[in-house]
Amino acid sequence: RIVKRQIGCRRDINRLNGQFLSLYESLIPAEEEKAKQKQLLLLLEKHVAKEWPEARLYLYGSCANSFGFPRSDIDVCLAMEDADVDKSEVLLKLADILQSDNLQNVQALTRARVPIVKLMDPATGISCDICVNNILAVVNTKLLRDYAQIDVRLRQLAFIVKHWAKSRGVNETYHGTLSSYAYVLMCVHFLQQRRPAILPCLQGMENTYAVTVDSTECAYFDQVEKLSGFGSHNRESIGQLVWAFFNYWAYCHDYANDVISVRTGSMLSKHEKDWTRRVGNDRHLICIEDPFELSHDLGRVVDKFSIRVIREEFERAAEILQCDPDPCVMLFKPYVP
Ligand code: CTP
Ligand code: MG
Repeated sequence: RIVKRQIGCRRDINRLNGQFLSLYESLIPAEEEKAKQKQLLLLLEKHVAKEWPEARLYLYGSCANSFGFPRSDIDVCLAMEDADVDKSEVLLKLADILQSDNLQNVQALTRARVPIVKLMDPATGISCDICVNNILAVVNTKLLRDYAQIDVRLRQLAFIVKHWAKSRGVNETYHGTLSSYAYVLMCVHFLQQRRPAILPCLQGMENTYAVTVDSTECAYFDQVEKLSGFGSHNRESIGQLVWAFFNYWAYCHDYANDVISVRTGSMLSKHEKDWTRRVGNDRHLICIEDPFELSHDLGRVVDKFSIRVIREEFERAAEILQCDPDPCVMLFKPYVP
């Protein structure tokens, strides 16, 4: 592999700000969608309350972390009092209850890695997946939503990166590429690393929010309204940041040794995480530490074939941003196998 390093960014990079910002605006879901999601959640809550009065429903994932595209499905977590409930049993019962209402395609997938009930609500046109007691996902959703409130450039960068990843076919965990969750964490970490920093490290600050989930302590500073000016000493534009993000992952990241860690706001070594060799199916070829489940590497889905695909896509993006006279066309050109 020939690795080229780009020393400086193209001089007219700020010419792209307008295009990136209009792309970002076009990817933000309309307010009516939020209202429809609420409506469906209320309907589900009504059914759940009858059977399990103590249970709660939470939205998680892109419908609640502020990194969602228009018309996405919603992810719902059914939180039961009893942490050890038989999830399959609950899901089968839930499917039964929901079937009797006007909901369509209700299906319990009890053998999936994360067991769920799937359904479609004809009244709102929204599809939804409901899981049981996936509380860490609810908490990491809040963490991302809180980060998004600190500096708008996080949301802008992450929407552009997600749009790129979806267009280029590198956002498919079942094909060994990365989840949207992983890409958003990469963006948070990248903005924590800018100098001056654009984002703080919330888990490194005073804890104003703390919950314990299955013996995992999740705590951080969540009074983010107090941090609204945090990134203002850094004046980098969205064009510069998109360029620097791809340049970093194409030419600067040390894939052999480094782990990115939003939890510490710094780089850790694979050595200290003991992520230096393949264990079972976890290969650790690109390492992204989950902010709460510290043994969880979000890069673990990546294998020796897909790591090449991902790195070549980072290099392609960096090259286009550096050299193409009209980069937005090629950057998001749908990948056709
Ligand atoms: N999640 C997680 N661990 C993972 C993958 C996902 O905890 N390894 C949780 C996170 O809470 C994440 C949610 O599941 O927010 C949904 O993940 P994903 O589908 O990757 O992200 P979305 O934000 O829903 O993106 P998309 O718009 O592509 O659906
Ligand atoms: Mg999702």
